[in-house]
Amino acid sequence: MSLKHDILKELELNRGKYYSGQALAERFGVSRAAVWKAVKGLIAEGTQIAAVPNLGYCVCADSDALTAEGIQARLKEEYRAVPIELMRIVDSTNNELKRRSSALNPDYILLSEEQSGGRGRSGKTFFSPPFTSIYISFLLNPKKLRLPVSMVTTAAAVAVSEAVKKSTGVETTVKWVNDIYFGDKKIVGILTEAVTSIESGETESLILGIGLNCHWDGVEIPKEIAEVATSIDTDVARNFIAAEIVNCVYDVIYGGTTDVLDYARKHSYLLGKTVEYTVNGIKKIGKATELDDEGHLVVTLPDGCRDVLTAGEVSVKKVRQ
Ligand code: BTN
Repeated sequence: MSLKHDILKELELNRGKYYSGQALAERFGVSRAAVWKAVKGLIAEGTQIAAVPNLGYCVCADSDALTAEGIQARLKEEYRAVPIELMRIVDSTNNELKRRSSALNPDYILLSEEQSGGRGRSGKTFFSPPFTSIYISFLLNPKKLRLPVSMVTTAAAVAVSEAVKKSTGVETTVKWVNDIYFGDKKIVGILTEAVTSIESGETESLILGIGLNCHWDGVEIPKEIAEVATSIDTDVARNFIAAEIVNCVYDVIYGGTTDVLDYARKHSYLLGKTVEYTVNGIKKIGKATELDDEGHLVVTLPDGCRDVLTAGEVSVKKVRQ
């Protein structure tokens, strides 16, 4: 990690508090000149840091750091009453909401600046470095859904793709069924989980978890992740993006504002491509030809037969150069 990142992290952790150059220099074992150079660099990049003689440095309230207040202020009127909580660190925002689901009423939103055990689908981990991304989980009310529970992940992918476009101008594609791509790399992962009543078997609440990689510059990315994933790398403050995610998720999932399948078809990463997947331990290769009306992916095999995939991992077949 760079000195700039370390200083910003320290100031973010103590928002509103002034640190003298001397205190930061001692904290990181560098000179005061090095601290000043790093702070100047951060300010030149647009980070809102106040530098006041005799007081020192302080992260301003409207910097890129996430705050519940900063997100709430940018929500549509009808969503402003939803409680938003921001944690500094948690194992996984989905896990935390699951642990607390019986004590919380939907709707509820939990974010964290870092996840020590971020989870993806199929038992995979979700790389969750601090102060770089948006890790957000929604405790949703199943009674308010405007679409079948089976479509929530696709609807969320559409909502987040719309939110990224609205807040940053960046065009993305939806990779069936729970990822969003920027070019040929993943920038968003989505994990939807149900909390079911033991007595009735009914879905009591739904937890929708979204991870959006915002700024990975200066972060050490494991090689295997860097090959398949990237960050959106925008100047737009994460509070703005997070607020648009909340607005779009509720609009699409509760409001039914967007034709989810139409958007997912028009912005599909997979349709028209040769894809690989595994069924009952057998590897198959075919062309992704359709997203059907249930949101299933239809793959046409070389012999003309079709597989209708309801879930699972599908990857684009690499072409040899
Ligand atoms: C995937 O890539 O398969 C899904 C990744 C989902 C990541 C988000 S980040 C917020 C929430 N908390 C988690 O542990 N996972 C989801």
